[in-house]
Amino acid sequence: MPILVLKQDKMIHFHLEGCIMRGLVERSLFVVAVCGVAFLGWRGSWVDATPPAKDDPAVERARQTVRMLDDIYKTAVVLITDKYVHGEGDFPAGSAAIALFDAVQQKGWHKVRLIDVTGEPYDDKNVAQSAFEKDAVLRLKKGETFVEEIAEVEGKPVLNVATPVPVVLEKCVMCHAHYKDAAPGAAIGAIVYQLPIDHAGR
Ligand code: HEC
Repeated sequence: MPILVLKQDKMIHFHLEGCIMRGLVERSLFVVAVCGVAFLGWRGSWVDATPPAKDDPAVERARQTVRMLDDIYKTAVVLITDKYVHGEGDFPAGSAAIALFDAVQQKGWHKVRLIDVTGEPYDDKNVAQSAFEKDAVLRLKKGETFVEEIAEVEGKPVLNVATPVPVVLEKCVMCHAHYKDAAPGAAIGAIVYQLPIDHAGR
């Protein structure tokens, strides 16, 4: 009899173990299923967040806005230097542009900076900082006129652009003496922009 009891015990034991194992297997399958669904969901949201293609109409709209801003800003700097800056003591258009760009950025319109590409900035803060800006400076110095990158900031797509600033007037040399060494038309500075790529077309 005791042997039978022992056998029964073992059987119960095995049975219990089987249940636990099955429970574990079932639980694992459940975990795998949940993870799978979560993974697919994550993949789905990642696919949605894929940066837009270069020929996306929303990218072209942002690009067009940069072209407009670039023309307006550069026209203003040349106009101010030509009409209002007569001596080294006058308020430089470069400083006016930097003050204007700070105001534009603070109001949340877009990010824009005036930087040096010669290696001898008037002010040390006016130099390439991000990886995009550093790469853009090299490309502008090689003669490119519109360097762009589609990037993502806080989960939203943005267009980074850099355009060259040449020595447009002889007056520029009055304060930036080393500009006289620049080849005609070569970039001595750059304007860098960051605009949101707006899919809603607003
Ligand atoms: C009256 C002196 C003066 C004249 C003229 C002048 N600049 Fe500047 N420029 C400055 C000063 C000062 C700064 C630094 C402004 C700041 O950081 O607030 C500056 C900054 C710049 C910068 C940003 C990089 C750096 O060196 O700090 C560029 C690019 C620039 N100027 C280009 C030009 C061009 C192009 C012209 C001619 C259209 C010009 N400047 C004429 C005084 C001048």
